[in-house]
Amino acid sequence: MSNQLDVRLQLVASFVRPGSVVADIGTDHAYLPVQLVRSGVCPGAYACDLREGPLQNAKQTVAAAGLSAKIKTVLSDGLDALDANCADDVIFAGMGGILIAELLSRAAWLKNSDVRVIAQPMSHAEDVRLWLFQNGFTIDKEAAIFDRHHGYVVLAAHYTGKETAYTPAMPYSGTLFGKDDPAAKRLLSLQLQRLKKRRDALQNAQSDPAETARLCAVITDFERRMQYDNAPDTV
Ligand SMILES: C[S@@+](CC[C@H](N)C(=O)[O-])C[C@H]1O[C@@H](n2cnc3c(N)ncnc32)[C@H](O)[C@@H]1O
Repeated sequence: MSNQLDVRLQLVASFVRPGSVVADIGTDHAYLPVQLVRSGVCPGAYACDLREGPLQNAKQTVAAAGLSAKIKTVLSDGLDALDANCADDVIFAGMGGILIAELLSRAAWLKNSDVRVIAQPMSHAEDVRLWLFQNGFTIDKEAAIFDRHHGYVVLAAHYTGKETAYTPAMPYSGTLFGKDDPAAKRLLSLQLQRLKKRRDALQNAQSDPAETARLCAVITDFERRMQYDNAPDTV
């Protein structure tokens, strides 16, 4: 393994709090925990995967880095096989948002204000944000990045116990509006295109009026926010 993570995993790594023990859920080759421990950001880590094959990959990477004493590889469906409170920062990277939301819902110990949840959904980021909003978490930080024309979002959240009020567009935009960052603006604009494409397909099929109406409300809200985002600052 080279010392360099790809830009997506580098962004995920930058969300980890120095000094925290991490649990990397769906670790596959364990590149992320190895880099975090090897660089001294984390004193130790759990590299977890659902399947034996990826876990073997993880074991090999960890052993080759000489970090078997500091990184525990765990065969686990989500956090199921981990002890409660074993980690400070819990990472879900490279999985779909629907799966991430489901794994979050099964791990009660994440509902602790000291724990940071870091998510990098490959799709359906809205399902992750919605789950967080409705289950007493607040999103502290969010960033976008592009690698070879593919956009990614990373977010960090912690438990407050209070539901977050949200407008129709917020699950789709998160906290990316208002950022002076070309990657965030590009990702938001792609998100809007996707929403419109889905709305148009539903309208053409005339199959689901309720979902069509919901998407129309999301798009109206999204466009209004985008207008503010792109408005020039006035003094
Ligand atoms: C595409 S890889 C992502 C690897 C790495 N996290 C990254 O971001 O590059 C997704 C991994 O998640 C694992 N996975 C899928 N469902 C899982 C679950 N329920 N619990 C734990 N791991 C799971 C898969 O076996 C696979 O190794």
